[in-house]
Amino acid sequence: MQTTISVIKADIGSIGGHITPSIKVLEAVNRYVDQHSYELLVDFRIHYTGDDIAILMTHTRGMEDRDIHKLAWDALMAGAEQAKMEGLYGAGQDLLKDAFSGNVKGMGPAVAELCFEERPNEPFLFFAADKTDPGVFNLPLYLAFSDPMNTPGLILSPELGRGFEFTIMDVSNTEADRVIKLKTPGDLYDIAALLRNPERYVVESISSNATGEQSVAVATSRLHNIAGKYTGKDDPVCLVRVQKQFPATGEIIAPYHISPYVAGAMRGSHQMPLMPVKQSSTISFFDGPPIVSCAGFCVHNGKLTEPTDVFDHPFWDHVRARCSQKAIEMRQQGFFGPAMLPMDELEYTGIVDRLEALNGKFELRA
Ligand code: F6R
Ligand code: MG
Ligand code: MG
Repeated sequence: MQTTISVIKADIGSIGGHITPSIKVLEAVNRYVDQHSYELLVDFRIHYTGDDIAILMTHTRGMEDRDIHKLAWDALMAGAEQAKMEGLYGAGQDLLKDAFSGNVKGMGPAVAELCFEERPNEPFLFFAADKTDPGVFNLPLYLAFSDPMNTPGLILSPELGRGFEFTIMDVSNTEADRVIKLKTPGDLYDIAALLRNPERYVVESISSNATGEQSVAVATSRLHNIAGKYTGKDDPVCLVRVQKQFPATGEIIAPYHISPYVAGAMRGSHQMPLMPVKQSSTISFFDGPPIVSCAGFCVHNGKLTEPTDVFDHPFWDHVRARCSQKAIEMRQQGFFGPAMLPMDELEYTGIVDRLEALNGKFELRA
């Protein structure tokens, strides 16, 4: 049986700023999916990370299915209505289009989907990040799927040793999806050359060279491309099938100990370290730091187990403390140099007007 996992997520309003959705909004989304999923879904779960609500669904209808996407869109619209009634900040903010047009891609919500023949045991991980953009997964995925220093399976397992195919999207191209396929280990340096620029080149999917099976799907949407102006951070989601012919769970999550500096946090315009957090974590210091949660599941005949909270372990308390220290170090330099994003990634355009006004006041000294 082919199982599809679809996760669709959006920021539809939050309490106290961009911090966390209200309980009533979460209930509204859950109730809508529950009441309208009959004959569509095998199973579903509602999660939140920071101010974003994710609907994780399993079904047998394949990827980009109209009815599945419509169900999620309508559920998020129902949640946005509730958010408006409660006066939540940014109510409905990621629902950028008025009418559903067959697929939520390009309408604001982030989407990641995997469709596969279930293995007898089918573990997978669901990552959700807030206050950052889709390139946030570039480094962890690069290390997990191509570096034996992180992933011993690449030298221990014959299947993993044949490498993986990365599909990488140029998210600056707004005309159409512009993608390239590159294979490890041969194309390793080309992959690195692209992924070093996470604002432009984003891992979209990764598949096994040995079997062709897909392990990874990342939501690549950039809200400012859809809205035509700078808007909130994209806050991507990512699905990863793990174990056997794919890297193990421990190999996939190991790179998150680095807490790399990523785009996001305050006004979506800074560089801050990525903090691996527990499920249902909120946002705090400097509208950040950017966070990532990870729920582990097994799926069997489309039915989901309960989630295990992968970053809820004493080890990650140490990582979080170190990450907080990195965040403080960066914040000590305020707006200066790498603390703030380059001009073309700032969420606000006021600075452009300010510099334009100053430009006219410059004098050429003879
Ligand atoms: C993402 C997020 C941010 C905000 C950004 C600007 O979840 O909340 O990217 O969109 O901080 O928000 P305003 O202008 O409302 O402060
Ligand atoms: Mg937000
Ligand atoms: Mg968010």
